[in-house]
Amino acid sequence: MQQPCFVTGGSGFIGQHLLALLTHRGHPVSVLMRRPHNLPALREQVEQLGGQGHLLTAVVGDLGLPGLGLDASARERVHQAAVVFHLGAQFAWGLAAEQARRVNVEGAVAVAELAAQQGSRLLMVGGFMLANHGHLQRLGIDLQQPERTDWNGVYRRSGGYEGSKLEAHFRVRARMAELQAPLTVVHPATVCGHSRSGHILPAQPLAGLIGNLASGRLGAIPGSPAHWLPLVSVDFLAELMVAAAFDKQQVGQEILALDAATPNLRGMLQQLAQTLGVRAPSRHLPIALLRGLLKLPGLPQLLRTDAESLDFIQTTRFDTSATQALAQRHQLHWPDIGQALQATAHYLAGKPSVV
Ligand SMILES: NC(=O)c1ccc[n+]([C@@H]2O[C@H](COP(=O)([O-])OP(=O)(O)OC[C@H]3O[C@@H](n4cnc5c(N)ncnc54)[C@H](OP(=O)(O)O)[C@@H]3O)[C@@H](O)[C@H]2O)c1
Repeated sequence: MQQPCFVTGGSGFIGQHLLALLTHRGHPVSVLMRRPHNLPALREQVEQLGGQGHLLTAVVGDLGLPGLGLDASARERVHQAAVVFHLGAQFAWGLAAEQARRVNVEGAVAVAELAAQQGSRLLMVGGFMLANHGHLQRLGIDLQQPERTDWNGVYRRSGGYEGSKLEAHFRVRARMAELQAPLTVVHPATVCGHSRSGHILPAQPLAGLIGNLASGRLGAIPGSPAHWLPLVSVDFLAELMVAAAFDKQQVGQEILALDAATPNLRGMLQQLAQTLGVRAPSRHLPIALLRGLLKLPGLPQLLRTDAESLDFIQTTRFDTSATQALAQRHQLHWPDIGQALQATAHYLAGKPSVV
């Protein structure tokens, strides 16, 4: 039998694909669930994504509760996990700092402590902005001594979601080092749908952008020709996570799950517009100007865009050589990101591609 795993955030977009891959490979997986009555629906969804639903069990808990809300029997059930995958997070724009901190920071630290206490390896999901050191410094993060950072200031500059993801990363890394427990971090770029079926959940940021393009709400391209929104397809991300989680060489490593072949934003919008049969915007609008416009009352609702989402559109290019090496070691093949984008647009337009 394959090694058992424990997953938080298993009902989410990335989580569903991770559960499908783990159970496809025969791993029994317990999933932290706030609403365990949703287990049958989750099993069905995981089957549709190519996994084995019967290998899933629910563990009742909540990242926002002390001790993750786990009772003694739940702790007993997750005790066997060889790997704890931590994906769970409150993922929304406009989150209050206090709420974001309780779930995304304190919850992550509690998951890390649980993994360390029971001798499980921790695979934590961060975000690609953590690999952009210039951005972190501009937000006020002290990279040499992160514990000296004024986190309230970071939250004010970045918003509750991003601030809490950044703080969680540094707090978990410090706690795991203190406990001398094994940690691997995967930092995904913005996640694109499945490279063949295009499967994506409607609440995903990329689905929002495609929706705006399809409905003609995107009158201009945010940023300059140098701006891009780095992507990774959800199926390849799940493969990278599983490869990293069971590879001893990846203990202590941080892996950037980002497809360096993602086109610039202009090219990406052109590809998507062609697939959707709509016109692509051709003029650029500087990010600072757009940010200012989004302060006008009612405009974020009208444009269905939030200023917090603009941070992810940037000009920085990243070094993905460590990721390439990991992919090569495990014989993983990057899917074509252009095809993944096309499949995602078809899926959202109700014309799923053939898997
Ligand atoms: N998607 C992206 O583009 C992207 C990019 C970079 C990093 N990430 C990171 O990847 C991870 C997964 O993202 P995703 O896109 O899959 O998110 P998602 O679809 O919004 O899923 C979030 C998951 O977290 C769970 N969750 C939220 N609050 C919880 C709580 N209080 N207690 C227990 N579980 C809770 C949700 O469970 P319920 O079913 O109970 O709501 C759901 O399973 C997150 O850490 C996110 O920051 C995502």
